[in-house]
Amino acid sequence: MDVYEAVASRRAVRGFTDESFPREVLQRVLAAAAWSPSGSNLQPWHIYVVTGAPLTQLKKLAVERVAAGDPWDEREFEMYPPALKSPYGERRSAFGKERYSALGIAREDWEARQRAAIANWDCFGAPAALFCYIDRDLGLPQWADVGMYLQTVMLLLRAEGLHSCPQMAWSQVRKTVADILSPPDELILFCGMSIGHEDVAVGYTRTRRAPLDETVTHFRRRLQAATSLPPG
Ligand SMILES: Cc1cc2nc3c(=O)[nH]c(=O)nc-3n(C[C@H](O)[C@H](O)[C@H](O)COP(=O)(O)O)c2cc1C
Repeated sequence: MDVYEAVASRRAVRGFTDESFPREVLQRVLAAAAWSPSGSNLQPWHIYVVTGAPLTQLKKLAVERVAAGDPWDEREFEMYPPALKSPYGERRSAFGKERYSALGIAREDWEARQRAAIANWDCFGAPAALFCYIDRDLGLPQWADVGMYLQTVMLLLRAEGLHSCPQMAWSQVRKTVADILSPPDELILFCGMSIGHEDVAVGYTRTRRAPLDETVTHFRRRLQAATSLPPG
């Protein structure tokens, strides 16, 4: 699989089969992903891989907790600004609309949406997950490094025929995750990532992207356009 194919076929998969895969596959992916870039080669990612009985236990505790309506753990970072300005607010609404309509859930059916959201803490049925932490003393550039690392992991998983779903939802129950993983206090849970084989019976709508000229500026071309204006 070439890189373009890996990029195009990666998506947030929200339905996995319970088919397991050899430990060495994940080992290979993580060994290769360690070559991700980071400012001054800090390599600020701390990854916990969870499978088998500990993952079953974690899913059970988290799903029970969320289903019981327990409040979220107090946040260690804001997932989004409280009021998302344009165009981000519109993009977020469009995403929610597409996601729930693919599942046949009406926008106003809050209960069905909650039920679908709970699948997050069952790792959407995946047999493996990783949890990505970052040291609380590090700053925004190091969080960006972690993002690059996670994308590298997700692309390498595609090369292995596996799919993934990155999930900040896990940070909402970070204490339950910590009960199982016992990370040192200096680490913040950024996100989890479910990993496995896609369950092709689960419907989805492929997310779209903003037109390229909304996110990419070709400064040279703009300059040329400006200089080609008639004088006066
Ligand atoms: C850092 C990060 C956190 C995310 N958290 C969640 C999550 O908690 N639950 C979920 O279902 N999807 C989550 N996603 C997936 C996004 O919704 C998804 O990447 C986005 O809608 C684009 O769709 P695509 O990945 O299928 O192309 C997350 C993605 C990223 C990068």
